[in-house]
Amino acid sequence: MSQEKKYRAVKGMADIFPEGAARWRALEDRAVSAALRYGYGEIRTPLVEPTELFVRSIGETTDIVEKEMFTFAGSGGKSFSLRPEGTAGVVRACLEHGVFGQNPLVRCFYLGPMFRRERPQAGRRRQFHQFGAEAIGSRRPALDVELIDLLLLFLEEAGLEGWSLAVNSVGCPRCRPGYREQLGVYLERVEDRLCENCRRRRETNPLRTLDCKNPSCRELAGEGPKPVDSLCPDCSSHLASAERLLSGIGLPYTIDPMMVRGLDYYTSLVFEVTGPALGAQDAVAGGGRYDNLVGELGGPDLGAAGFSVGLERILIGLAEKEIPPAAAPLGRLYLAAAGPEAFEPQFILLSKLRRRGFWAVTDYGERSLKAQLREANKLGAGRVLIRGPEELAAGTVKIKDMESGKETSVPENEVTSTLTRCLISPPGGLVPPEGEFRR
Ligand code: HAM
Repeated sequence: MSQEKKYRAVKGMADIFPEGAARWRALEDRAVSAALRYGYGEIRTPLVEPTELFVRSIGETTDIVEKEMFTFAGSGGKSFSLRPEGTAGVVRACLEHGVFGQNPLVRCFYLGPMFRRERPQAGRRRQFHQFGAEAIGSRRPALDVELIDLLLLFLEEAGLEGWSLAVNSVGCPRCRPGYREQLGVYLERVEDRLCENCRRRRETNPLRTLDCKNPSCRELAGEGPKPVDSLCPDCSSHLASAERLLSGIGLPYTIDPMMVRGLDYYTSLVFEVTGPALGAQDAVAGGGRYDNLVGELGGPDLGAAGFSVGLERILIGLAEKEIPPAAAPLGRLYLAAAGPEAFEPQFILLSKLRRRGFWAVTDYGERSLKAQLREANKLGAGRVLIRGPEELAAGTVKIKDMESGKETSVPENEVTSTLTRCLISPPGGLVPPEGEFRR
């Protein structure tokens, strides 16, 4: 071996040179632009965490924890691991710094490397990069759908075509034990045809057979009972509401009754996005609800959901295609619903406005209009879009200018054009310079 080639990058870890790095930066800019528009703020957590954090959150009998973590001993014999994913670190950080006490709903996003000791191949690295988003503080299905909407908007804006979205429900502590038992009984019957891993986990964690890396185990599991057939009323209605909202904002999806995701912290709704140029096993992105994780790590009982997307896999899917440059978000809008009937129409409008490039958020806490206006003010919203029974009956939306206090009612189908007119000046002119919000 020549002297120059004596040192090589660690297997499954890549070097990125300037030509490639420009593409990475463009993709990351797209992620930041999408996340900011949805009201998510950036969080940066350490690459190393105590091993115990991942064991408690991802689960002791998952592939990630059993065999994929890079773990080492620190001083005093403490065990540390390179982060294999971002969710556990985000929850740990928010708990440590008392963030949940100060905010009813925490929304954050992250970009950065993750580490898993997997067998390297196309789209599967030992150091890979994720864009992820987490929303903690609400159990409403609309929050799950907001995250899916953000994820798909990012993929579309990055130029990825041919993606498909699959959703499922893995149940909750109320309905999952019954399902686990049924599955365990079924797997016992076919035990001699399972791989060694699935046989070992049959009693401790039978759900893992549904996403075993071994196709014949998945096939066998596919003939057994599915989580969706054992859901409790809460999980069923959560899934049904999420499906209705997905259709409401025009996102096509399928139900994949076999999807359980490879991490144990999930409850209720889970989802995955697969893309072109990758096998069915290799999702571009995945996520779901993890309503028990904050409590499990010693915090309050808070509903939560999130996703992360593998940037290497998007770049493979994009092939040579150019990534369009990202623009700064337009405006700063808050959508307020006066009464429960207005929530869904407002949620659909919210998605539309974000897709048009607006910074826009809404309330998931079912608070009074007064409380929502207070929050809009705190967030520095330039305009609040209000809909209550009166507007619903008239097919209009009230736009309140927060600086002047002036209110104008406009027909629903004219909201985006009206806002675009007031926010882009001179008429037909340019969007504001990078990084600058217009109120
Ligand atoms: P995950 O499904 O383990 O979920 O990973 C998310 C994405 O990271 C995958 O869909 C894939 O694109 C990418 N990925 C995973 N492993 C590799 C690898 N070895 N090489 C390249 N890309 C990879 C999570 O990590 C959860 N934290 C998602 C989440 C956030 N759930 C709730 N919040």
